[in-house]
Amino acid sequence: MISYKLKNIIFILLILINPSLLLAQDDIKGIGKKLYFDHACWQCHGLEGQGSSASPATPRIAPTLYPYEVFSILTRKPPPGMPAYSSKILSNNDLLAIYEYVKSIPAPPEIEDIEILNDLSKDY
Ligand code: HEC
Repeated sequence: MISYKLKNIIFILLILINPSLLLAQDDIKGIGKKLYFDHACWQCHGLEGQGSSASPATPRIAPTLYPYEVFSILTRKPPPGMPAYSSKILSNNDLLAIYEYVKSIPAPPEIEDIEILNDLSKDY
């Protein structure tokens, strides 16, 4: 099995040979974003994959900490509280596109870096 790092190196080499592959990577994120909405992931995990404290509480899934293999298992055979997405409902290609989208969502800033929140802690 090819390691994750090696896959990334191969991908970078392929981009150097054929830069249009970068466009393909952007396309897959766009497709993944649409699928994230079509398959209602957003209804529980939030519009930005930020999770929710509403009932049932859902974990943040973006940016994901998992390699694709783990993300895929968690979506296909999820823990209680989440519906299972079999390959009949969500193909492997579509799940991969959702994964690429979720992976591309930037992490939120640290609380200390949010200026307005720091201002609130000041004494006036
Ligand atoms: C009906 C609500 C619901 C929907 C829709 C839903 N999820 Fe979930 N998901 C959950 C809940 C609740 C958990 C946490 C379950 C637990 O840990 O007990 C979860 C957990 C996960 C996890 C594991 C996260 C972690 O760190 O443990 C992943 C990955 C995930 N969901 C991906 C998806 C994807 C991708 C979709 C859309 C294809 C989706 N979910 C749709 C409710 C939902």
